[in-house]
This record gives sequence, structure tokens and C-alpha cells, in this order.
Amino acid sequence: MSGRRFALALSMVVMASGIPAASGRADGVASGKQDGIPNSIIQEGFAISPIPVKQLNLSRKNPAMVALGSYLVNGTSDCAGCHSLPKFLPVGGPGSNPAAGDPFQGTLTPPTQSVSGRLVANFNTQHYLAGGRCFGPFMARNLTPDVNGLPQGLTLAEFIQVMRTGEDIHCKKDRTDPICKIGPDTAVLQIMPWPSYHNMTDFDLEAIYTYLTAIPRAIACNTPNFGCTGSYTYPISADCPNPPPPQ
Ligand code: HEC
Repeated sequence: MSGRRFALALSMVVMASGIPAASGRADGVASGKQDGIPNSIIQEGFAISPIPVKQLNLSRKNPAMVALGSYLVNGTSDCAGCHSLPKFLPVGGPGSNPAAGDPFQGTLTPPTQSVSGRLVANFNTQHYLAGGRCFGPFMARNLTPDVNGLPQGLTLAEFIQVMRTGEDIHCKKDRTDPICKIGPDTAVLQIMPWPSYHNMTDFDLEAIYTYLTAIPRAIACNTPNFGCTGSYTYPISADCPNPPPPQ
């Protein structure tokens, strides 16, 4: 092997080693390859997505990656805890499970949640990951697909850069977006826990991105024109209680 070819082969090995889940299992799932993602994660990822699988846009996506993304977004990283306002609706509200309500209001006798079953909750699906929650003067962004199908207009490479560096790429690219005028101008994102997400693998971040491009487009209850002024001023409706539940 010539020196140059060896160097190329070596750099490919180094690049591939950043993607640990590519263990070579290729049993395939639905129309896509499984990429070494365990079946249990795929099943769980689809099962816990507040947006039912039938309403996810799987076209030209690897379903296994969408499922892993859902598992990471909904099962471990709590993106919706900050990026959905409110995350849950009370019993009877027009969410994913009107009989269930907000788990934080649950009772212990009889217990609302079990040790072995899935979370029983009424997710606010109409505003799922649409942003609008205020943290002091900062507002969580809308992570649902834009008109071009991209979350905040970010490409995969840009999304990975945001998650690793906290750089506000969206507002650098589109300063006219009203959400970019909310909160003080800071060098890096201040509330978004990007230092925690920084160490996720490229593979996992790509899965999260793939899931974000598969969920339905949605608009926040608290849109940027209402701002983050201390108390929420958006109009009350069944899917937009105001004040929202505290969590
Ligand atoms: C603790 C609350 C919190 C959590 C948890 C959180 N975010 Fe954020 N995120 C924010 C806030 C607030 C902003 C914008 C303002 C800031 O941080 O300065 C933001 C910004 C972002 C941006 C930048 C969008 C743009 O306009 O470029 C992306 C992308 C993002 N979040 C994705 C995620 C994903 C994906 C997850 C879960 C893996 C997540 N966030 C979890 C609060 C959060």
C-alpha cells in the first residue's frame, strides 16, 4: 500500500470510529436499514413518541434512525421539557391522551404511574417541540420542520455544530427572525444544555436531527411577538392554557 493510500485508509478508520453504533447488523427494519440499532430501542422509540408513528413523516428517512431519535429526544434528553409549552395538558385537554393529564399532578393512591408500564400522560401534541417557553429573557426555539423541512433552517452539519458549540447559527443566518431579537445578544446559547449534548456521538445527533425532521410542523402558544416579558400574555385556549403548568 502506498503511503498516501495508507494515510487515506487510516483517516477513514479514524472517521468511522466516531460512529460507535455501526456494528454491522443489517437485519433491516421497514424500508430502511437498522444500522446496528437494537430492536428494543426502535420499538421503544416509536412507542414513546408523543406524535404517533402514522403522523411522522418517514419519507426518504431511515425509520430506525427516526426511532432512535425519538428514544433520545423523548426517553433521555427531555428536549420537550424546554421546547414544548406546555409539555403536558390537564385531564380532558386536547392532547395525546385526554384521559391521562399532567403526570406532575398525579396521585399516589391509586398510583398514576407504574414501575413496568410506559408513562401515562397527556402530551400537548399540537405544540410539540414548537418552542415558546421563557427562561428569564430567553425563549426556547421552535424545533419543528420549517417550510423546507429543516428544524430552524439548520442542515445536519449545522445542527451538529449547534449541539457541540452552542453557536446560534440560525440567528447568524437569519437576523430578521423575530425570535433572534428576544433576549440579550450572547456569544453562545445560554439556556440550551449544549455542553451536556456536546459529547453525544455524531450518530446519535444525526438520529435526533432525523426525528426532528419527521415530526409535524407546529406553531408555539407563545410566539415571538408575545415575547418573554415576565408573565405569558398569549391568548388562552384548550391547547394553550395560560398560565401554563409550572414545570
Ligand atoms: C433546559 C432547557 C432546554 C433543553 C432541555 C433543551 N433545550 Fe434547546 N434550547 C433551549 C433554549 C432556551 C434555546 C434558545 C435560547 C438560548 O439557549 O440561549 C435553545 C436552543 C436550541 C437550538 C438552537 C436553535 C436555533 O435557532 O439554531 C437547538 C437546535 C436546540 N435548542 C435543540 C435542542 C434539542 C435537540 C434538545 C434535546 C436533545 C434540546 N434543545 C433541549 C432550551 C433547552
